[in-house]
Amino acid sequence: MSKKKVLVVGGTGYLGQHILQGYAEIHGSPYDLAFTHQSSPPPQALLDAIPHSFAFHVDLKTGEGFEAISNSFGQPDVVVNCAAISVPRICEVDPAAAFAINVPSSLVEWLSSFRKSTTLLIHLSTDQVYEGEKSFYKEDDETDPVNVYGKSKIAAEQFISEKYSNFAILRSSIIFGPQTISPVPKSLPIQWIDSALAKGKKMDFFHDEYRCPVFVKDVVAIILALTNKWISDNKPMQLLLNVGGPERVSRAQMAEVVAHIRGYDASLINIVSALSVDRGVKSPSDISMDITKLVQTLNISPIPYKDGVKLTLDAEAKC
Ligand SMILES: NC(=O)c1ccc[n+]([C@@H]2O[C@H](COP(=O)([O-])OP(=O)(O)OC[C@H]3O[C@@H](n4cnc5c(N)ncnc54)[C@H](OP(=O)(O)O)[C@@H]3O)[C@@H](O)[C@H]2O)c1
Repeated sequence: MSKKKVLVVGGTGYLGQHILQGYAEIHGSPYDLAFTHQSSPPPQALLDAIPHSFAFHVDLKTGEGFEAISNSFGQPDVVVNCAAISVPRICEVDPAAAFAINVPSSLVEWLSSFRKSTTLLIHLSTDQVYEGEKSFYKEDDETDPVNVYGKSKIAAEQFISEKYSNFAILRSSIIFGPQTISPVPKSLPIQWIDSALAKGKKMDFFHDEYRCPVFVKDVVAIILALTNKWISDNKPMQLLLNVGGPERVSRAQMAEVVAHIRGYDASLINIVSALSVDRGVKSPSDISMDITKLVQTLNISPIPYKDGVKLTLDAEAKC
């Protein structure tokens, strides 16, 4: 039997590389893997770590590159879309680019062009679609994003659910974990807190901004489970899931856990209000999420924040 084909769009990014690694590590290598890159050639370290994978240059703004995938890789059974302008501050300064990339219209049009609609699209969205005025949002709560990033992501969700019939949209909280095979340029949350506190100087952390940070390997496990569900059941899905860790933690609590594990002086954590700092972009206050639907649908329970931080810092120590 021929292998199923998986395409990771945005495979060079933080989550994309972890996902490729997750698929590649499955016993018996049941998938043919391909990924896309955009700003630079695919990193050699990634190509070496994911042997026999195909790399394609794709620009979501124009759709350039998808035809080459049809010609040499063929129609994928599963596409995981991780491509985005994922930094809210950057979206805020160029809303047109944020919408052109974050709403994957060229990808959906390409998938719709195949005669058989047999591709599952797993699309990464964000907790920032919620306004942030209450705790533990559920999937059917109203969305009202406060920044361009969130607005582009909700536009993407609407586009996919109107134009495509086999999808899983994952509204993810902050994803944290070890660095990638080929290090990504953006700063990673735990590593950033760790290096800031390691300097021994007081740093500001917010007591009034709440998230449900999720360990990257849990996000990978969710994506592998969705892949498996589609391949084994062969029933198209229209699924919307909150993806977060099990706890609601403030930015200050996130830092306290890192300080505790590393043995840093907790008084280095200067607790302030998010309102005291201008970050050039509005950030929702409390977008903690209820993840009951995720746990019930896929039977996956993301690990507690503290355990994920330990695993992250242990992995960094080994590098
Ligand atoms: N990381 C988080 O904490 C987090 C939290 C919630 C939701 N998410 C969502 O999860 C997804 C993955 O996040 P991430 O942190 O892995 O993002 P990331 O590290 O910023 O990676 C973004 C990816 O998008 C690609 N890309 C950028 N512009 C593109 C374009 N015009 N055409 C095609 N590809 C393009 C990049 O390619 P190059 O590398 O070649 O530039 C890269 O592979 C995003 O949708 C993000 O919004 C992430």
